[in-house]
Amino acid sequence: MQRLPMFGDDDDHLRTAADVLCDGGLVAFPTETVYGLGAIAHDAQAVRKIFAAKGRPPDDPLIVHVRPQWNLSTIVAEIPPLASALMDALWPGPLTLVLPKSDDLPDTVTSGLPDVAVRAPSHPVAIRLLDAVGAPLAAPSANRFSYVSATTADHVIDDLGDSVDLVLDGGPADAGIESTVIRVVGGSITVLRRGALTVEQIRNAVPDIDHITEARSDSDATASPGRMLKHYSPTTRTVAARSGTIPNIETADVCFLTYADTNAAQIPSSWAVVTLGSRDDLDQVARNLYSTLRYVDTAGHDLIVIETTGAAGLGEALDDRITRASSGTVASSTRFTDGG
Ligand code: TXA
Ligand code: MG
Repeated sequence: MQRLPMFGDDDDHLRTAADVLCDGGLVAFPTETVYGLGAIAHDAQAVRKIFAAKGRPPDDPLIVHVRPQWNLSTIVAEIPPLASALMDALWPGPLTLVLPKSDDLPDTVTSGLPDVAVRAPSHPVAIRLLDAVGAPLAAPSANRFSYVSATTADHVIDDLGDSVDLVLDGGPADAGIESTVIRVVGGSITVLRRGALTVEQIRNAVPDIDHITEARSDSDATASPGRMLKHYSPTTRTVAARSGTIPNIETADVCFLTYADTNAAQIPSSWAVVTLGSRDDLDQVARNLYSTLRYVDTAGHDLIVIETTGAAGLGEALDDRITRASSGTVASSTRFTDGG
């Protein structure tokens, strides 16, 4: 795989990337959430290469990336007024809308589903790439299937190597956590995946929403196939700990991912302790989570324990990822007696 830096005088790099895509190749690129692995959405053969490169099962559909001002008629069959209002208010940005699919879009992209997920990224490199190609890009997160998402070009290279033609290196992704995925039907919204944009931000941007509900149970997994319980997971055995607790665990070689306010005196002395940031700055925690998980996963610990944030808003999206990284296993715990 070729890596091209995107820091300054890089128009040639952008043209190279656009050529690779137009020739049916794969290009990884930064978005404001995580790195994406892109192919031209209407090129079914190129899209199949994405599934092969990630080891992603064919029944897990891809997000189509666009520019907000594009005519979406070759992607989406119908845009209800609420979806249109959300696009106007929140695009470009980390909001993915699931809408009825156009017949022009290959079924490979949507895994045969009648709906398509579409989003307009706000990262300048993603925007310039879309403008240079002039066509929608199907792009999942640029990581091995079910592993931790990639927030740097190095992560992409570590995971996908030569199955990708090119990575545009735009430095670390800003948000560090994926977009929020919603389904819009009439005046109602179902949140299929919590993400970088909070439900409160959606409500504030578009006041006349009838209902916002969340597809909570995993019986709703078919509504958004990416909701598998094991997801975003390190290779090392990983469990979650409830916010403010330290689990009772026999294993000595534990790496504990926690927050700056945790009382270190409560933590078993044999454990390695890594701070994800402060609970008062969840944006920072989101930026750190995946790179920290990848880093500690290489350290050869017997067990990783990740404390949930227990916070609202972005905290709920983070706790969703922490729980999935732990395949839904929450350790039984001892509550802190002081501090934490
Ligand atoms: O921030 C992001 O969304 C990143 C960047 C690269 O854009 N992309 C990303 O893609 O996270 P991926 O493929 O890792 O996750 C896409 C999510 C999955 O949960 C998938 O099931 C859901 O979107 N999805 C895609 N198409 C869908 C559809 N037609 N119906 C329901 N859910 C869909
Ligand atoms: Mg993903």
